[in-house]
Amino acid sequence: MEEIGVRMEQGAIEVPKGLDKVIVDRTGIASTDSDGNLVYRGYRAVDLAEKRSFEQTAYLVMYGHLPDSSEIEDFSRFLMINYGIDDSTERIMQLMPKDTKLIDLLRSVVSLVPLKEKKDDKILIEIGAKMPRISSDGYRILKGMPILKDVQGSYAERFYYLLTGNYDSVGARYFEKILILYMEHEFNASTFTLRVAASTLTDPRAAVTAALAALKGPLHGGANAEILNYMLKMKSTDEAVKFVEDKLAKKEKIMGFGHRIYKKLDPRAQFAKEQLKSLAKLKDAEQLYDYAAAIEKAMWDKKQIPANLDFYAATCFYLLGIEESFYTPIFAASRLFGWGAHYIEQVSDNKLIRPDSKYVGPVGLEL
Ligand code: ACO
Repeated sequence: MEEIGVRMEQGAIEVPKGLDKVIVDRTGIASTDSDGNLVYRGYRAVDLAEKRSFEQTAYLVMYGHLPDSSEIEDFSRFLMINYGIDDSTERIMQLMPKDTKLIDLLRSVVSLVPLKEKKDDKILIEIGAKMPRISSDGYRILKGMPILKDVQGSYAERFYYLLTGNYDSVGARYFEKILILYMEHEFNASTFTLRVAASTLTDPRAAVTAALAALKGPLHGGANAEILNYMLKMKSTDEAVKFVEDKLAKKEKIMGFGHRIYKKLDPRAQFAKEQLKSLAKLKDAEQLYDYAAAIEKAMWDKKQIPANLDFYAATCFYLLGIEESFYTPIFAASRLFGWGAHYIEQVSDNKLIRPDSKYVGPVGLEL
């Protein structure tokens, strides 16, 4: 029977499922390697987290160089003056069903919040400026709590205040370091989604909305608190080890572990682990660190799968007093600047991303 419509274009190549180890384009924004290195625009991400502010790193990621004093002043002021949202957006949030997930609220509000900027880079940064306020107000509106006003300080201090209701420069600095590590990660699933959308020459806000949809999934940014809930119920490191054994015996995935690129270690996770150790000491919660380290060790001993950033970041966020619904929106707010850089890179040298497929369904059916 003739196979009408079944074709394989001449010269087409069939690549591994999930595009595993397939290079689909070039980028000058970030690079990763399987030995556990992550570099933003030539600088190690962990060095930036230790030595630079969120604003400086976001500027670097967006524009390709570290800002001078006037550039950082302008950029920081722009983030500060654009953090607010208008009354009509607040009313839209009030109309949302009370069981709306915060990440869904964020995605919906990002797609409609009024923006005043017209240039792509500024539109993207304006969205980034508003994400902390949208997340905080959205959370409080859904819970029937009053929204927080009069925000001040650096981006991380403001964001931390909007998440916790506390001004605490020590807590905000721990938070800022983790935020920096979430900012950029080359062609991860949400960024690739954004680049596919950008390649159609859709506008930056629409591309970010697509990226937010991809980020929500539990294999990407959507499951960063799951394991924390188990850990909080643990009473000993033996229990932590048993938890890993039981999950693996049932062939269940343990969230916060594994990565497409980092097969030995995720540098962000190791950095966040050090933050957790220090924070656990500060908060008199060293047991939590011990359980986390025991889970990580057991997972490595039994399956040679390393912890990823989410595993240690979620535990740090918990000790910083940040409620779990915020974890994916926090990831999104920081990654927005990576997405922004990728939007600009994609449209500046664009080719529509439209792969081919191999048809394996029924053929030759007659009506
Ligand atoms: N727990 C248990 N086993 C795992 C885990 C895990 N977290 N991750 C991978 N594996 C196992 C798989 O079961 C599979 O085993 P098998 O070969 O015996 O069948 C093997 O390791 C390969 O796993 P894949 O899922 O095929 O690897 P891939 O590179 O596609 O997956 C992914 C990467 C999706 C991140 C995966 O490790 C995972 O699902 N992790 C849990 C979700 C998670 O933590 N996501 C956050 C990612 S990091 C971030 O977004 C900041």
